[in-house]
This record gives sequence, structure tokens and C-alpha cells, in this order.
Amino acid sequence: MTSPFGASSTDEQARAAAARRASTSASAALLDLVRGKTFDDFLFRPKYSVVERRDPAHIDLGARFSRRVMLKRPLVAANMDTVTRAAMAVALAEEGGLGVIDRGFRRGDIEPQVREVTIVKRTQHGVITAPYTIEPGAPVAAAAERMRTSGVGTLVVVDREGRLAGMLTARDLRFVDERGPTTVAGRMTPRDRLVVHRGPIDALDAERVMRERKIKKLPLVDDHDGLVGLLTARDLVKQREHPFATRDAQGRLRVGAAIGAKGDYLERAAELIAAGADVLVIDIAHGHSAVMARAIEAFRARFGDVELVAGNVATAEGARFLVERGVDAIKVGIGPGGGCTTRLHTNFGVPQVEALVEGRLATDGAVPIIADGGVRRDGALVQALVFGGDTVMLGSAFAGTAETPGEIVQKPVLLPEAGKTVKVPFKVFRGMASLQAIVDRLDVEDAEAADVEALGAEGLEVSVPARGSVRVIVHDMLKHLCSAISYGGASSLADLQQRVMAAPGDYVIALSDAARRESFDR
Ligand code: XMP
Repeated sequence: MTSPFGASSTDEQARAAAARRASTSASAALLDLVRGKTFDDFLFRPKYSVVERRDPAHIDLGARFSRRVMLKRPLVAANMDTVTRAAMAVALAEEGGLGVIDRGFRRGDIEPQVREVTIVKRTQHGVITAPYTIEPGAPVAAAAERMRTSGVGTLVVVDREGRLAGMLTARDLRFVDERGPTTVAGRMTPRDRLVVHRGPIDALDAERVMRERKIKKLPLVDDHDGLVGLLTARDLVKQREHPFATRDAQGRLRVGAAIGAKGDYLERAAELIAAGADVLVIDIAHGHSAVMARAIEAFRARFGDVELVAGNVATAEGARFLVERGVDAIKVGIGPGGGCTTRLHTNFGVPQVEALVEGRLATDGAVPIIADGGVRRDGALVQALVFGGDTVMLGSAFAGTAETPGEIVQKPVLLPEAGKTVKVPFKVFRGMASLQAIVDRLDVEDAEAADVEALGAEGLEVSVPARGSVRVIVHDMLKHLCSAISYGGASSLADLQQRVMAAPGDYVIALSDAARRESFDR
């Protein structure tokens, strides 16, 4: 039979079968090449470059984090209690990646994690659809208290029917005494003196109105003067400053949050979802397990198709197991992490490049893969993305930066050449399965000492030198990624990934010990 395009359907079937055979044998060859191997075992062969400028502002580094969450930069901050709380999640989302808030809070203690998610979701907005409000008849003391607890300096004043009545700023509350008005109505700027916009408005028009009328806040109302939102100059400036930021449909920064697979995890998930978490991550050490199967099933039964990531796995069967259970992305990596001792203590795990290739070939793009752990130099970041990761999750690479939680401790360090001791600032970085992290999560008062000892820690706690902002590290990583795209003869990250996977033999060079020393020993 001849198709409308001239070729017969048997020709097409034969070509498709040949293509499948070719890709199956390329996959088998790639798997053989990476068996038992990890990042430092490979280099990539340089190709003719087509990139004019190695500039992250001009090269597409976009990646899928999960089924419905896209990133413009493929970097994710790990859900570890010494890495990702609100400050880290805000920085990563503003830079185009994503942070996952850890669950390293005590069991049943859900509110602190919810608070971190709320801070991220309230950092910036497109339109603030539910601004903090107050009634005109409320006492000024109540308004001051509202500003203090919410951390905002402007309250929109609305009457009982939700109609705009005025605006009240922190400045209106200065020098309040009993002789002056004691209700909000007496202190606010009333509705008839406000600049207001009726109906929807885009960012450019809003900026023009604010510039022309010299205002910093623009309330949006419907035809009946009902308050429908608030735009702020600060948010518009943020949108300009961070053009690659990861935002939700309302212009808020996106954030992920980790939950476990037992105990309070469903209740935790419910509260995190209510606080606006964009994606939940069921994160357990061995994700290819009966515990995980039950957890995913219960999560889906309760929360439907809320974006869900699960892990960790490190084998083809493990990856397929999670895909078959309908998760929206999988986290791959057992034992490569900088704070991790699983392989030392159990002898189980898969070298990370092998695990990524297995995961990629087994799932064939059905859902994105998050390459989790083991990235200690930017070249390894490139490999994690090219060998199968859609995005890369980083812990130790971000340790010690200003955005990590925890105190800076000054420690004496001996300088042997100078023969003197100096004080150096350090921060703690630890595996989430380190004994210290586990004990912190337990209610130690109630725990039997024997229980704590029986926990079987699989993580390290180390001090790392305190560094500057994580943004500098992210910018360097992105520049190096652009250089890699140029060396690889590709025009974008997706292009580089496709080229290497389509013809791994053209790119991948397995290193001898001498070649490895020549490449990485510095
Ligand atoms: P990097 O290498 O970026 O890896 O620090 C971060 C990832 O390491 C994992 N992780 C652990 N794995 N025991 C483990 O076996 C631990 O205590 C531990 N803490 C973190 C985790 O997957 C993280 O994203």
C-alpha cells in the first residue's frame, strides 16, 4: 500500500524497525560502556562548535523537572537540613532552578516546614490575589499586629462586602497616640485618593501606571469595587531582575517540599499543598520498595494528580517501578552523595553514571529524571545531565554558602607555612541519614538511648568553610554548562543531550588511570 507521501507502509515499517534495532544496539553499547562507571571515568570528545557566545543569557538551558514543572536552568537544591530552607529555595528559583525544602523537622512538627514554603511563596508575586487586608473599623493596634505577624508594610482596607475602602501603610501608624484617630479608617488613605485599576492589567501597563502616577502599590478592583488583587512596584522590579526565574501561574516563585513515606507524611503533604508547595517529593533512601508503593498509592488516593516526585532508585527496575506507579519525576542516585556512607556501610549502590544511563534507557523519557548526588565539579554536572539527568540535584556543591541554614562557627586552623593559627568561618554540612541529623529529628527526650543506637546511620557530618552567595556558584555552573554545549557542537542543553544519546560512541571516551590523572588531578 502506498501512503499519501509516496513511501509504502511496508517501507516505513521496515525503516522504523531498522531504526529501533539501531537504537537498541546503541543503547546496549552505551550500557556496556558505563557498567560500573561514574563521573571521573569519562571525557567527551570535542566537536565543531556552532555557538557564537557561551552566554547563559543566550543559550537555552531549559529542562523538565517533573511532568508539569519546567525550569529554565537545570539545577535543584537538595532537600537536606543543612542545604535548603527558604533562603536557598528563593535563590535557586530566582536563578531559574528549584529548591526542595527538607523534612528534617521533628516528627509531627509540620508547621516549621510549612513556614519555609510560605516564605518562598510570598517572596514575589505577579498579582497578589489574596493581599493582607483589614476592616476600616479595626483598631490601629490590630493593624500594627497584623503587619508584624505577616511581615508586610501595607494592608488593603476592605469593608465587610470585600469592597476597597483604602490603604494603610506602616508610615500611617507612626506616632499614633490616644488623642488622634484610633481606628484604621481614621489613619488610612481613603479609596477616593487612591490610584486604582479596574479589571486585568499586564506587567508593562502596570509599570507605566505606577511610573506616571508615582505610586508603589496598585490595587485591582472589579466593576463593583470588590478587591481582586494588588500589584507592587517591588514585584515588577523583581520580574525584570530575574527573567529566568521559576514562577507559577500567579507569578510566585516555585518551591518543592520533601515528605517521607511513613508516619505523618500524608498530613504533612496536605499542609504543604495548602501552603502552595508546587511539587511534593517522597524521598526515602531505598525508593524501590513496598513502603514506597504503599506511600504513592495513598498519596494519589488522597491528593489526586498533585505533582509528585519519588526516589531514590538506581536501577532500571527501580526506575520502571516508579514510572508504573504514576509519579511525575524520579530521583536517581543511591550512595553517590557527598554526605553519604550507604555504600561504605552496606556495600549496596550503583555508580552514578551507570544508574543514570539505566534509568534513562528504562524509562525512555516517560517522566523526567533528577540526577541526585555525587556532583563535586562542574564537569560532573555536565555528565549528570548528558548521561540521563533532566535536572541535577546538588547538596555538598552548595554547602557552606550564605543561603544555607545554620550558624557560622569560627574554628582555629593551623597554617603550617606561616607557623600560626588563624580563625576560619565554617558551617556544618551533614547527610540526612547521619546520626546527628536523625537524632535532631527525634524527640530525644522520649527516645530510648538504645533506639538511637539501633538507627544505623548512613551519613556524615562535616564542617565546610563558609562561602559567599550560592548565586555565584550557580552562575559559574551555568557558564561551564554553556562552554560544554559549545565543545559538544550543540546549540542548547537539550540538543547536547540528544546528540550524545543518539551517538554515544562519537562522544564518550572511557579513561585509563593515566588519562584520569591527566584530566582531573590538579
Ligand atoms: P551531593 O553529592 O550533592 O548529594 O551532596 C546530595 C544527595 O545526597 C543524598 N543524601 C544522603 N545519602 N545518606 C545517604 O545515603 C545520607 O545521610 C544522605 N544525605 C543526603 C541525597 O539524595 C541528597 O540529595
